[in-house]
Amino acid sequence: MKAGFFFSILLSLLAQLSLAQYQYQALMNYLESRMTAIEERISVWNEQNNRYNIDLKKFRLQATDLLEKLGKEHVKLQEDLEGAKLQVDRVEREMDFMETKHPPKPCVKAADKIVEQKPVVTERKKKDEFFEVSVCVDLVSNIRAMKILKRLGSTKGVWTKDARTAKVYIFNGTSDDTLYEFKSVKQLSASSGMSKSKQITLPSAWNGTGHAVYDGFLYYITETSELKVNKFHLENRSLVDNAVLPVQEQVSVYSLNPETIVDLIADEEGLWALYAIGTINLAKMDSDTLDIEHMWETSCSRINAEAAFFVCGTLYVVYNTRPPSRAKVQCVFDVNDMVTPEEAPLFYFPRRFGTHSSLKYNPVEKQVYAWDDGYQILYRMSLKKKLFAIMPPPEE
Ligand SMILES: *[C@@H]1O[C@H](CO)[C@@H](O)[C@H](O)[C@H]1NC(C)=O
Ligand SMILES: *[C@@H]1O[C@H](CO)[C@@H](O)[C@H](O)[C@H]1NC(C)=O
Ligand SMILES: *[C@@H]1O[C@H](CO)[C@@H](O)[C@H](O)[C@H]1NC(C)=O
Repeated sequence: MKAGFFFSILLSLLAQLSLAQYQYQALMNYLESRMTAIEERISVWNEQNNRYNIDLKKFRLQATDLLEKLGKEHVKLQEDLEGAKLQVDRVEREMDFMETKHPPKPCVKAADKIVEQKPVVTERKKKDEFFEVSVCVDLVSNIRAMKILKRLGSTKGVWTKDARTAKVYIFNGTSDDTLYEFKSVKQLSASSGMSKSKQITLPSAWNGTGHAVYDGFLYYITETSELKVNKFHLENRSLVDNAVLPVQEQVSVYSLNPETIVDLIADEEGLWALYAIGTINLAKMDSDTLDIEHMWETSCSRINAEAAFFVCGTLYVVYNTRPPSRAKVQCVFDVNDMVTPEEAPLFYFPRRFGTHSSLKYNPVEKQVYAWDDGYQILYRMSLKKKLFAIMPPPEE
């Protein structure tokens, strides 16, 4: 009786083991064949470097999918899978090497010091390239340096620089119909108050600190009975378009900045909107038509959040306390699921006394334009590459 019982358990264990072993072997074969294919393709890298990136991404996703399933089945397999991971890493290192020799379309242009950039002259990307956000694999690892530029205006506000035209914009306070344009950060530094600026008056007042400027356009939020995104051409002083956001309850996206219901980010990929439905949600919009293309529910809480910034498809939410202490990045969300919890950077801002009312990342300069209790601050970010470490998901 008993022996038969144990025997049947043993049999079923053996069956499970050999199934796992079989799947492992199939996976290794699959990895090997993909690896060979990739290595062959490296030789024709020059012509294909762009497509190659996309293939690698697909392969990574497929490989992770398989690996995740297997990871659940057998602990021993996990160790063996590390071997497969090393192979993937090796190819990635080769990729990195090839990429440095023949850089693919970068998401950003490097600038090495806290200095002014020249206006960017490349053509704006077409909208159907949305998922190319994944080709950009920079991950913020830390804050390398800080520069306090000025103290201007009220406690809350926004300062930001158009990453394409290099002009600087000041939004003083959390609700007004006027903004100030400076030709450069240097001009702003030299200006006493807004004296050297060009004043721009909008057809309707903005609310909060969620404004974004990109490629000569201002995207701003008006809070009436409905929540509207407005697109304004700064040179022509004309409202080009607007759209109502499908947000029922007007809850602030960051609890420590109650005036900001929606935070907008404009970059090469388009327009991104952050708003709260329970947790912080993210929508990807077409910056030409203001259509919503995609929505994500991040797991980042709005409670004790003060601001956020967005780099290469990854959202970094910054938290603080009341009264303010040290701001820290405590929640990270990647739209392509390319950042594992283990490599998600959690870091502190330099010790300061205030609360950030806005953090605007400039991808060309790799620095954040921050408004901290009336101070205009630049945070220079250290970047590394997303590793996309392969590991089984945590047990539920
Ligand atoms: C900014 O706004 C505050 C409050 O509305 C006002 O007192 C201050 O004069 C403004 N600053 C400038 C430089 O316009
Ligand atoms: C938005 O701005 C307008 C104009 O300054 C102001 O009247 C209104 O109270 C603001 N709304 C909120 C919710 O702060
Ligand atoms: C700005 O004005 C110029 C000249 O009137 C016009 O050609 C151009 O299309 C306008 N741009 C936008 C975005 O409205």
